[in-house]
Amino acid sequence: MEKIDSTHSFLTITMPSSSPFLLLLMLFFVVTDTVYSEEEEVKTTFIVQVEHDTKPSIFPTHRHWYESSLSSSSSIIHTYQTVFHGFSAKLTPSEAQKLQALSHVITLIPEQVRHLHTTRSPQFLGLKIADRAGLLKETDFGSDLVIGVIDTGICPERESFNDRDLGPLPPKWKGQCVSGRDFPASSCNRKLIGARYFSAGYEATNGKMNDTLEYRSPRDSDGHGTHTASIAAGRYVFPASTMSYARGMAAGMAPKARLAVYKVCWNAGCYDSDILAAFDAAVADGVDVVSLSVGGVVVPYHLDVIAVGAFGASEAGVFVSASGGNGGPGGLTVTNVAPWVTTVGAGTIDRDFPADVVLGNGKIIGGVSVYGGPGLSPGRMYKLVYAGSEGGGDGYSSSLCLEDSLDPMVVKGNIVVCDRGVNSRAAKGEVVKKAGGVGMILANGVFDGEGLVADCHVLPATSVGATAGDEIRKYISLGWHSRSPPTATIIFKGTRVGVRPAPKVAAFSARGPNPESPEILKPDVIAPGLNILAAWPDGVSPSGVHSDERRSEFNILSGTSMACPHVSGLAALLKGAHPAWTPAAIRSALITTAYTVDTSGDSLLDESTGNVSSFFDYGAGHVHPEKAMNPGLIYDISSYDYVDFLCNSNYSAKNIRVITRKGADCSGAKRAGHAGNLNYPSLSAVFHQYGKQSMSTHFIRSVANVGDPNSVYKVTVTPPPGTVVTVEPNTLSFRRLGQKLNFLVRVQTRAVKLSPGTSTVNTGSILWSDGKHAVKSPLVVTMQQPLQ
Ligand SMILES: *[C@@H]1O[C@H](CO)[C@@H](O)[C@H](O)[C@H]1NC(C)=O
Ligand SMILES: *[C@@H]1O[C@H](CO)[C@@H](O)[C@H](O)[C@H]1NC(C)=O
Ligand SMILES: *[C@@H]1O[C@H](CO)[C@@H](O)[C@H](O)[C@H]1NC(C)=O
Repeated sequence: MEKIDSTHSFLTITMPSSSPFLLLLMLFFVVTDTVYSEEEEVKTTFIVQVEHDTKPSIFPTHRHWYESSLSSSSSIIHTYQTVFHGFSAKLTPSEAQKLQALSHVITLIPEQVRHLHTTRSPQFLGLKIADRAGLLKETDFGSDLVIGVIDTGICPERESFNDRDLGPLPPKWKGQCVSGRDFPASSCNRKLIGARYFSAGYEATNGKMNDTLEYRSPRDSDGHGTHTASIAAGRYVFPASTMSYARGMAAGMAPKARLAVYKVCWNAGCYDSDILAAFDAAVADGVDVVSLSVGGVVVPYHLDVIAVGAFGASEAGVFVSASGGNGGPGGLTVTNVAPWVTTVGAGTIDRDFPADVVLGNGKIIGGVSVYGGPGLSPGRMYKLVYAGSEGGGDGYSSSLCLEDSLDPMVVKGNIVVCDRGVNSRAAKGEVVKKAGGVGMILANGVFDGEGLVADCHVLPATSVGATAGDEIRKYISLGWHSRSPPTATIIFKGTRVGVRPAPKVAAFSARGPNPESPEILKPDVIAPGLNILAAWPDGVSPSGVHSDERRSEFNILSGTSMACPHVSGLAALLKGAHPAWTPAAIRSALITTAYTVDTSGDSLLDESTGNVSSFFDYGAGHVHPEKAMNPGLIYDISSYDYVDFLCNSNYSAKNIRVITRKGADCSGAKRAGHAGNLNYPSLSAVFHQYGKQSMSTHFIRSVANVGDPNSVYKVTVTPPPGTVVTVEPNTLSFRRLGQKLNFLVRVQTRAVKLSPGTSTVNTGSILWSDGKHAVKSPLVVTMQQPLQ
C-alpha cells in the first residue's frame, strides 16, 4: 500500500544493475558470518524461475517436479504458470545455491515486501453522466470489461458494488469467487465477478495470521482495496459523503465495468510471492486491466516481481496501471517504472475542505480537514501548546505526538501543535485526544512543503503547510516569554468546490527522473489523488484509528494509490471503445492527449512549492479522458520492441529471459540503436558530458493513424532551451486507418559548464497536428557531468 505518512517510510533505493548472484552472495555471507550453524540457517522466500518445457514425464504435474527439487523441510508457497513459470519457496542460502545450480532453474529472485501507497473527481475529469456523446455513453460504461484490483480485498456489500442493470458475465470470464471468513461465494454478483486471496507468501514469513485481526478471505479489513476498487469502477451512489463532507454523487471512472479483486496485502505488507500469484491468476481469469496501488524499492526489472508480472500481463493484452509512489516532492523517487507499466502520479482536484486556524494575535492561517464531530466552542480561544518545546520528556517524540509522548499536565484542555511524520496523521490526533487535548494543528515539515492532506480526525484538527507551521511555532515560543500566553481556535468551513487553480501536482506525488531507465520519462501521467471520496468498509473507522468507533460508507483518502485506479478505470473505457488497442496504444492515447495547463490557464503548479512544475513531476501531464478517446495517432509497442529496449539497456540475455520467458538475441537490437529508441510516446535524451563541446542523439518513432483515414499531420517543435531539434519528415500524410509512418527526431545540444556530479534538465515538446487532433510528446534533455 502506498499510504502517505504510514509508519513505514517509503524508501526508494536504486540498486546497481547487479545480477541476482550478487544478492544471493550477499545474503549468503550475511548469514554465514553469524553464529548460526549450517542447519540453523535463516530461510527467506525466493521466487524460482524454471524451464517450464523441460519437465521430465515421470512427474505428473509441474508441482510434483518442483517439489522433487526441494529438501523435505521446504515446501512450495505458490506455483506460477501464466505470467511466469516456476514457484516460490522459503529457502536457506545453501538451498538457494543448490537450486541455482540445477540446469532447469533459470533464476532465483529474492522476495521484496511491498507497501500500499471520489464524488467529484469524475466530474472534474470532464465525464458527465448527461453527456450522451461522451466517453461513458459510447462505451456503454465499459460494461464487458473486467478490472482486476490487486490490493487489500473488498467490502462487497457496499452500494458502489451493486449489480443493477448489468448483463450476464462476460463470456471470456474464467475467474472465481473464492469464499473464506465472512465472505461466502454469494458475496460476488454481476458487478464483483471475481474475488481471490493470496496469503501463503505472507504466512510463510510471518507465521499463521491472526484470523480475528484480519480476514482469511477476500474481505477487506483495511479499507484501501475497497476505496481503490470503487474509484476504478464504483456504481453511481447518491447521496454520498463522509462525515457530511464532499456531499454529492459518487461514481467510479467506469461505473459498469466488472471488478475482480485479488487480495495480496495484509497487516504486515504485501509479499512478492503473493503478488506474482495474483498477476498469474488475474491474467488466466481474463481481466482486461490490472490496477496496482502497491510499491516497493526500485530494482532492475529482472529482480522486480511487479515488473515481471506486468510484462506477462501486458504480453497477454492486459493493461497494467500502477501508482508511482508517495515519495515526493524530492526527485528520483518514482517507482513502478518499467516501460510496459503505466505509472501514475497524483494531482489535486478543484475541491478542498478549508479549516482555518485563528491565532490569539488575530492572524488567520488556512488549513484543511474533514473532521466531522462536535466542533470547538464558538468564539472561545484555547491555550495553544507545542509539546516539543515544553521541556521534560523526549522533545522529539512529543513534537511528533507519538504514542504516550504527551504529558496530560501540559496538554489537557488545550490545542496541540504536532509535526507531521513517523506515525499516521490521524494517529497523532488520537494521541492528543488521549492526553486530554481538545484540538490539534498538524504542521508540515520542510520536506512536506505546502502540500495539505485532509483527514477524518478523531478530534477537531486541521493541517497546515510548512511556512504556516514555522509561524505558529514562533508565535508560541514568543508568547511564552510575554504576558499573554498563546491561544488559538479552529474554524471548520466544510466543502469548497471550484477551487482554482487546479489541478496541481500533489506534494507527495513521486517524481522523476526514472531511477532505472532515465531514457523513459516517468511518471507517465497524473490523475486525481488528493482528498478523494470513495467507498469504505463497515468494519473500519474512517480515521483508521482502532479506538475510533465511527463508521462511514465513504471515506476521503489521498495518495498515488487513489490516482492509479482513476487511470485503470479510464483504460477500461478506452478498451471498451477500441477493443483492438494494445496496452501500449491505450497508454499512448493517455500520454499524447494529457494537458499541462490548469483551470487558470497557467502551467500546472507544484503543490509543495507553489512554483511551476515540470515533466519529471507530472510526466506528460494530467489525463484528459474525452481527448484520449480520439487521439488521432498512437505510438504502439510490441513485445519485441520491449526486448530490444532491454538489450539496449544492457540487460543480459539471461536476465531478459527472466522477464520475457523467452531467449533473446540482442545483436539486431544493438545495431538498431539505444534504449531511448523504444517507440514510447514521450522522449528523454540523456547526455553524459566528458569534456565534449557538443552532443547529438536521435530518436526513431513510428505512429499509427487511428483518426481520419485521409489526414495530413504537420509537426510543431518546441526545442528545449539550448538545443536544436529537427524532425524529419515534418509532414506525415496518411491514406488509411491503421497506416504507420516513421519519423526521426534529432536533438543537438552544446555542452554547458557543470560541476562534477551535477546535471541540468531542459524541456520542450513535439506536437503533430492535423487541425483536429493534437498529438503531443514531451521532450526532456538531461545533461550529466560524471563525477570524474
Ligand atoms: C488475535 O488477536 C486478538 C485480538 O487482539 C487476541 O485477543 C488474540 O489473543 C490473538 N490470537 C492469537 C492466536 O494471537
Ligand atoms: C520556488 O519559488 C521560490 C520563491 O517563491 C524560490 O525561492 C525557489 O527557488 C523556487 N524553487 C524552485 C525549485 O524553483
Ligand atoms: C550499455 O553499454 C554500452 C557499452 O558499455 C554503453 O555505451 C551504454 O551507454 C550502455 N547503455 C545503457 C543504457 O546503460
